[in-house]
Amino acid sequence: MIASASAPGKVILCGEHAVVYGQPAIALPLSDVRAVAQVEGAPPSMGIEVVAPDVSEQWQLTPEQQHPLALLIRLTLARLAVAPLPDLHISLRSAIPIASGMGSGAAIGAALVKALAAYFGAQLPPAEVSQLVYESERGFHGTPSGIDNSVVSYEQAMWFVRGAALTGQTTPPVIEPVTVGVPFSLVIGDTGVRAPTRVTVARVRERWEAEKELYSTWFAEIGRLATQAREALLQGDVALLGTALNRNQKLLQQLGVSSPELERLIVAARSSGALGAKLSGGGGGGIMLALVDDVARPLVARALHDAGATRVIETVVH
Ligand code: PMV
Repeated sequence: MIASASAPGKVILCGEHAVVYGQPAIALPLSDVRAVAQVEGAPPSMGIEVVAPDVSEQWQLTPEQQHPLALLIRLTLARLAVAPLPDLHISLRSAIPIASGMGSGAAIGAALVKALAAYFGAQLPPAEVSQLVYESERGFHGTPSGIDNSVVSYEQAMWFVRGAALTGQTTPPVIEPVTVGVPFSLVIGDTGVRAPTRVTVARVRERWEAEKELYSTWFAEIGRLATQAREALLQGDVALLGTALNRNQKLLQQLGVSSPELERLIVAARSSGALGAKLSGGGGGGIMLALVDDVARPLVARALHDAGATRVIETVVH
């Protein structure tokens, strides 16, 4: 028996970083760019072997292993009440660039949880898939808001406000579907610069610690732009959405998470007709996105290639 499952990549349309501090953000799944996990039985006493050819990884699960996916496998098997540890061969493939702001780690995790559940004849609701992925990533990413694991698990455009830790108890995040009044197009450009999210999140935290009032004002302003973007999506007002994205980028620059490579792609997109453009995700490298109409779409895609994007993805959001 072989079980397989997949999960999409994602982009954050508006609100990254500020979302870590309790502000709302909007995330979109990228359904055409996916991670796939396959689980099959292995001969007795083989244990659990994990093969991930896209990142040249192959390892055997051991009790003391610190890999986030090792933790995720243990958590998922415990949730499925599978004991003792079974003999399995797990293969992981992903078309989502790593450490680029497209949620590759979360997507691989969600695909893995769903494939393990399918192998053992269970189906976990998105909230549980999301929670398991969050638990496994928490130790490795510092203070993740939970937006990545949520959007790849629910696979829908979402309004997200992180859950709060209240006197030892954790309240769940606010997750609401976002209504897209009129479909719109995004062109996504990858700088090719790998920038781990935990590094930029830690950098922002240091700056916030040093100047709490100033940074909190900026976070709140980003939160207001997310509200404006949601309204623009509902109304199908792409001009308003473009303005919100551009203003969001200005604030991300102020937070210190843009980079020369990102700026180059953003300027190229805007000067070839994009209605708005900003970095997406952790920043410091990784991806940017541009909001385009049908006329600008091919021009922006070409301009991003010419400005050095290592990969350009065009997508329509419904
Ligand atoms: O994983 P990335 O690079 O898409 O970034 C996630 C968004 C951040 O707001 C920067 C971090 C977080 O945990 O929300």
